Amino acid sequence: MVLRASSKSAPYDQADSSKTGRIVVFGSRGMLGSEIVEGLMATGFDVDTPVRPEVDITDVASLGSFFTKAVPPCLIINCAAYTAVDKAESETGKAFAVNRDGPANLADECREAGVPLIHISTDYVFDGKAGRPYREIDPAGPIGAYGRSKWEGEEAVRSRLIEHMIIRTAWLYGARGSNFVKTILRLAREREELKIVDDQFGCPTWTRDLAGCVVQIARQVLSGCGKISWGTYHFCGGGVTNWCGFARSIVEMARQRESLKVGEIRPIPSSSYPTPAERPAWSVLDCGKIEEQFGISPPPWEESLACMLEELRQIEARSALSPGR
Ligand SMILES: NC(=O)c1ccc[n+]([C@@H]2O[C@H](COP(=O)([O-])OP(=O)(O)OC[C@H]3O[C@@H](n4cnc5c(N)ncnc54)[C@H](OP(=O)(O)O)[C@@H]3O)[C@@H](O)[C@H]2O)c1
Repeated sequence: MVLRASSKSAPYDQADSSKTGRIVVFGSRGMLGSEIVEGLMATGFDVDTPVRPEVDITDVASLGSFFTKAVPPCLIINCAAYTAVDKAESETGKAFAVNRDGPANLADECREAGVPLIHISTDYVFDGKAGRPYREIDPAGPIGAYGRSKWEGEEAVRSRLIEHMIIRTAWLYGARGSNFVKTILRLAREREELKIVDDQFGCPTWTRDLAGCVVQIARQVLSGCGKISWGTYHFCGGGVTNWCGFARSIVEMARQRESLKVGEIRPIPSSSYPTPAERPAWSVLDCGKIEEQFGISPPPWEESLACMLEELRQIEARSALSPGR
């Protein structure tokens, strides 16, 4: 589907799409992809949003036929991914098809068309043992099938395409899709006590902040001004917390606006909450490089969480007023 830029568009500076062309976003129905599409359109870009089953990034033929028919793009952004971290342990083939072969196919298409690719990746490419924020040059060492599939996807892009930008992020949440913030909010309304792990540390990242980062990079890439430093970058919310600290902040902030059933939020070790996939204990990303190269610095995670909760409250209030929508 082709989405034309609207002229009324809030916090983003405007781009002139007649000069830049069309951007194709894969994974546009996902939590992050939908936010990026909105940000691009608000900025003035025309956006093409191919979706399954017509266009599947694991299917070279469907991709080929899409690019043959589509208006030639100026940039491709890949948010499509297999994101079920636990299920990836048993559906490893599917995870690798989407997370490794999909980006490989997109990078091949980009190289042939002479178009740059922005590809989204994850903190789970690291083993979580560093004890200090991970830099882009640190060696990967994924400890689960999801992380391995994403790492191999990164490598597939690097080996095929010079004009690429891999942006690793972490602990994503947003008003769309299911995520930790929405789950905690639901449980806090239903239960008196929550037990949440406190020995995995990371950086909660609002999809709106990452979308803003991607839009800003897209503008710089397409403006043709200055030399672009292709390669790998980190972007995640500012500051560090653990899942229990994150949950407590969600509940504290939400409680300012509604009464919640939950009383105590008890910290537990990961060993008391076994999951099919092991998670890195330390998923903190150093975002210095993206700040240095592009002047982008993520806001503190608490500030973004407050904004997202307010957005969620407004969405819920609207749907309570018109439940059929
Ligand atoms: N969620 C997190 O906490 C997190 C953390 C770090 C990094 N990331 C990365 O951030 C990116 C976006 O994640 P997200 O949470 O927004 O993902 P998401 O909500 O699960 O959305 C994934 C999207 O990918 C699409 N997709 C899956 N398989 C596809 C295929 N074979 N062909 C075409 N499209 C396909 C899905 O399409 P349908 O709409 O048809 O289902 C969906 O729109 C991913 O690269 C992920 O690895 C996520």
